[in-house]
Amino acid sequence: MGLLGRKKTEPCWVDVAGEHDFRHSLEVQVDGTRYALLRAGDQVVCTQASCSHEYSPLVEGVVQDGEVYCEKHGSRFSLADGAVLNPPACENIRIFKCKLEAGRVFIFVP
Ligand code: FES
Repeated sequence: MGLLGRKKTEPCWVDVAGEHDFRHSLEVQVDGTRYALLRAGDQVVCTQASCSHEYSPLVEGVVQDGEVYCEKHGSRFSLADGAVLNPPACENIRIFKCKLEAGRVFIFVP
């Protein structure tokens, strides 16, 4: 897990990892909040760290076809907008803006 500290400020882009620091996924933390970086093809998507059902780490999920599959009970979520696609989860997950720049991964921390 990456640990980053920063002063509480306005919402801003935060450098959380090197683009090649992880193969499939990486959990990072900013200001005490955990986020999941999920590699989807040549993109990196940032989501909340835990499944909305029973809080299984989404970095342990499987990313395929623009979705993340939570292996604990089988819910899937769209990586486009966080929409829950099947039960047992009934709440969407949050997606955060994410960008790759100069070999680094930045997330937009609200
Ligand atoms: S914890 Fe993810 S589907 Fe139950």
